Amino acid sequence: MKKPIAIALCLFALSPLAASAQEIDADAAIKYRKAVMTAVKGHNAAIKGIVTGKVPFNGSLKGHVAAINDLFSELNRIFPEGSDFGETNAKEAIWDKPEKFKATVDKAQKAAAALKQAVDSGASGGDLVKAYKQFGKNSCASCHKQFKAKPKS
Ligand code: HEC
Repeated sequence: MKKPIAIALCLFALSPLAASAQEIDADAAIKYRKAVMTAVKGHNAAIKGIVTGKVPFNGSLKGHVAAINDLFSELNRIFPEGSDFGETNAKEAIWDKPEKFKATVDKAQKAAAALKQAVDSGASGGDLVKAYKQFGKNSCASCHKQFKAKPKS
C-alpha cells in the first residue's frame, strides 16, 4: 500500500502543478529569493571594484555582468504568490500592484542588458563608471525604493 502512494507523490512533485501558486513552500521560496539577491549583491560588489579601478581584474568583468543578467532573468519567478508572509522584507505592493512591479523588473532587466552592452562594446574609465551607476539607479535602487522594506533589526 505504501509504495503506490510514494510513487503518486513523486509524480505529483514532478508535475507542473507542484510549482503552482498554492503549493509553494513560502519559507523555501523566501530563502531562495534571498539567496538569489545575495548572489546579485556579490556580483554587483565585484563589478564595482573593477569599474572603479580598485582591483585590476578586468578580465572578470564580463563574467560578473553576465551572471547579473542571468540572475535578473529570475526576477519574474522569485516572488511567487504566497511568499509575502514570513521572514521577508518584500513589500505587499509586489503582489498588490503586479503591473507596476513587472514594469520595474523590465526596467532592471533592461538596465542589466545595457551594462552588458557597454562592457561588450569596450567602454572603459569614466564611461564605464557612468554605465555602472546608471545600472544601479535603474535596477537595485529603483526596485528597492518601491518594493523592499528596511530590515526590521
Ligand atoms: C525588481 C526588484 C529588485 C531588483 C531589481 C533588485 N532587488 Fe534586491 N531585493 C528586492 C526585494 C523585494 C528584496 C527583499 C526580499 C525578501 O526579503 O524577501 C531584496 C533583497 C535584497 C537583498 C537582501 C537579501 C537578504 O538576505 O535579505 C540584497 C543584498 C539585495 N536585494 C541586493 C540587490 C542588488 C545589489 C541589486 C542590484 C544589482 C538588487 N538587489 C536588485 C528587490 C529587487
